[in-house]
Parts: sequence; C-alpha cells; structure tokens
Amino acid sequence: MKKVFVSERIPRFVEEYLRNHCDVERWEEKGEIPRDLLLEKLKDKDGLLMFGESIDEELLQVAPKLQAVSTVSVGYDSFDIEVMRKHGIIGLHTPYVLDDTVADLVVGLMLSVARRIAELDAYVKAGKWNKAVGKDLFGIDMHHKTVGIIGMGRIGEVIAKRVKYGFDMNVLYYNRSRNKEAEEKYGAAYCSLEELLTQSDYVVLMTPLTDETYHLIGTEQFRLMKDSAVFINASRGQTVDEAALIAALQNGEIYGAGIDTFTQEPVEKDNPLLQLKNVVTVPHIGSATLQTRQEMAMVAAKNLVEALSGGNPPYIVKE
Ligand code: DGY
Repeated sequence: MKKVFVSERIPRFVEEYLRNHCDVERWEEKGEIPRDLLLEKLKDKDGLLMFGESIDEELLQVAPKLQAVSTVSVGYDSFDIEVMRKHGIIGLHTPYVLDDTVADLVVGLMLSVARRIAELDAYVKAGKWNKAVGKDLFGIDMHHKTVGIIGMGRIGEVIAKRVKYGFDMNVLYYNRSRNKEAEEKYGAAYCSLEELLTQSDYVVLMTPLTDETYHLIGTEQFRLMKDSAVFINASRGQTVDEAALIAALQNGEIYGAGIDTFTQEPVEKDNPLLQLKNVVTVPHIGSATLQTRQEMAMVAAKNLVEALSGGNPPYIVKE
C-alpha cells in the first residue's frame, strides 16, 4: 500500500476512504504541523494531502518517494510548480466543488459592506439604537449598479450569474482571456482593467495568485476607482497591496471593502483594517461551509488515491 501523510483536518468518512486505499498517517494535533515535523514525516511517504504548506525544493529534497501532493483547495499558490515538475510530483486541487459557496460569500460581503450590516449589527447590540436611523447610518444600493469582476474563471462566472439575475447588476470583467460563456449568459462585458476600475461601483477580485497577479491592485488602481466603490477580495491577500488598500480606505478614496483574504493569515491583531468601520473582515472562509469542505476533502482524497495508483486523477494542476 502507498504511504500517505495527511496534514489537513479531514472528516472521518474521508479518512476511512483513504485508509481503504492507502497506509495513512495523520497530523492529529490542533493547528498547523510544524515545518520540521512535516519534513520528517514525508521521508517515507508517497503522497501528501494538505492545505497551505509550501511545496518547495526544501520539502521535495527530503521526500524522495513522494509522487503526488493534493491540496484541499482550488488555489495552489503554495505549490512551486516548476520545482514540482522538476521532481516529477503531481499537483492536485479541488476546483468546481466550491464555486457556489465562494460566490455566495462574495455576494454576502458586497451586501454587508453596502448596507453596513456588520457595523449596524454592532450598533444595535451595543444598545445605541435609540431613535430611527438617520442618513449618517444609511448604506448604498447594490441592485442595478455595475460590478467589475477581475478574474472571470469558474467562480467569477457564478458571481456574475448571482448579481446579474439576483440584483439586476451590470457586469464588467477583466481576465487574461475572453470568457464567451459569461458574455453570452450574463451579458458580461470584457474591458481593460483601467475601464473596469473607473466604471465599477463594486470591484470584485477573484484572480488566482500568480507572479502576474501579485499586487495587481495597488495605489494607482485604488485611485482609479470611484470614491463610492466597494472593493471585495476573496482571492488571495497578496493580489492586493494591503498598505495601499488601507490608505485608500482611510483617505476616503473608496467607500468600503469586504476582505476574506489577507497578506498575513491569520491576520495580525494590530492590522489597521480591523479598526475601520467601513471594512467587513472574515477569516478566509470563501469555501468554509460544512458541506463544501467535506466535499473538497473527498475530492482531494480521490485525486490522491487515483494519482498514486497510476490512474487519471480528475483535477491535476495544469500550468
Ligand atoms: C481555496 O480553495 O483556494 C479557497 O481559498 C479556500 O477557502
């Protein structure tokens, strides 16, 4: 039987499935496995099921038998693809299964920022609701406005569907290539990044983190946005220059932001974003529903078993 190490928490039924096919060792403690221990564990392993660990030269040097690494995520920015290719390691991820769940969160963040839901929840719970609210507490509309989606992949498309048909929004998008389906089904209009930033009432960043998208949105891009714009990041923290985001929010260059992903995760307790009323923060929960995370873990496990048995895993990272 192939030997597999599992560093991510997975449901019992997924573990059982893995144990039926492989010899499984699991990280049982709370929190992330320390790096040196992970390297130690991988010395005799053929496969790794993980989330977030850097798969790089250092790790692959000490794991001579490793054949496949399966992440319980659609994003695989922790994979050093070139190094993995050099070592002949198969990289696997979990697309599709989380698209609806992530899109739901994005729409939730848009609404929450626009209608100040988190801020006004705190206001009510603090006992400050003594009279009917005045315009200092009014929000802004989402319906019939323009949303610009940066990164029109599978999740971008589902967001487009929700906002087009649920909120009658006008959809713009910027992507490395045209997405005809999004254009035909959701009337999404392809445009340059500059056009998207200047015309959108809501700017949603959904692009994967790559060398090209690192700090894609920074000072210059925030300046191009409307001062009434809502900015949402549910991709990866590093796609945004966080200092520029903080400055844009503090200087009133944009209306507010909904942030699922941060430069450092877990976010530092003194990060200025946490002090701003016009920012809604959540702890990288794009795909974090019970059902979706269970399904993702199963997809990751099946991917790994298939790869280790020389079969055709459905979701190989292709680059
Ligand atoms: C992913 O799958 O990459 C998500 O960011 C995890 O929530």
